[in-house]
Amino acid sequence: MELPPRPKLFDFHGVSMTNYFTDNWDNVQNFQARPDDILIATYPKAGTTWVSYILDLLYFGQTAPECQRPIFEKVPFLELLIPIYPPGVEVLDNLTTSPRLIKTHLPVQLLPKSFWEQNCRIVYVARNAKDNAVSYFHFDRMNQAQPEPGDWNNFLQRFMDGKMVFGSWYDHVTGWWEKKQSHSKILYLFYEDMVEDTGRELDRLCSFLGLSPSAEEKERVRGGVQFDNMKKNSMANYSTDKVMDFKISPFMRKGKVGDWKNHFTVAQSEQFDEDYKKKMKNTQLRFRGTI
Ligand code: A3P
Repeated sequence: MELPPRPKLFDFHGVSMTNYFTDNWDNVQNFQARPDDILIATYPKAGTTWVSYILDLLYFGQTAPECQRPIFEKVPFLELLIPIYPPGVEVLDNLTTSPRLIKTHLPVQLLPKSFWEQNCRIVYVARNAKDNAVSYFHFDRMNQAQPEPGDWNNFLQRFMDGKMVFGSWYDHVTGWWEKKQSHSKILYLFYEDMVEDTGRELDRLCSFLGLSPSAEEKERVRGGVQFDNMKKNSMANYSTDKVMDFKISPFMRKGKVGDWKNHFTVAQSEQFDEDYKKKMKNTQLRFRGTI
């Protein structure tokens, strides 16, 4: 089945969205979370797949036959409704593994209320704005289910204006950050910390989840989720996803902190920083654009 032409952005409850994430809205909002569900929440391109695969390995290992499925099937995407795939909600309702690992890109105010009622554990991953924007640009180039990115300069302006699928990066990362201040079941991770010391962040994750893997198990997970290993792992690298064209750009693209320096001109960087200061002036949330 062919995908329709690229979707268009529109305003949805104050957030830019495409119909692939709003068409199933009633079912998404009425989704029944379970107390042991684990939600992986991110702004797109912040490291969702990385954390998804870490959790998948921690809970389900990699040897069982049912594990030999792509990560996007094992960690279903809650709000997704795209013609060539079954709806995320339906996949989740039929998932037999426990706990369920669930992916969402929803901003905090749009999360279905049952996740709060059930007091589910939530792992949020955030990535510095400049690298996040670069990664998103290449993703939109290669993903037929995303709006046309246009050229880099225009894309960057749209990023600053919050006119991206799932809305403003600034609102997303600060919204979840504020929520975390009063909600103990949210672990707020940074992509940069994970690149700097994956083992340390793995320990934080395990302690948050109440898991105590052996040193060997931990080492196996740490090795399995290294960028180069995930890049060549067809279960983790999205190579079986039909909407992506790896000839344009691979899903596992660079996996680095600071790649923004290869994309931003000095003028773009200065303008971005100026605007960033204004948008982020009311938050304590701090990012590292280099490590
Ligand atoms: P780049 O485009 O900068 O390479 P998401 O899963 O949220 O869509 O995020 C994708 C980004 O995370 C891509 O960034 C991808 O390469 C990076 N990524 C995925 N797995 C990674 C890993 N094991 N180590 C470092 N970066 C990883």
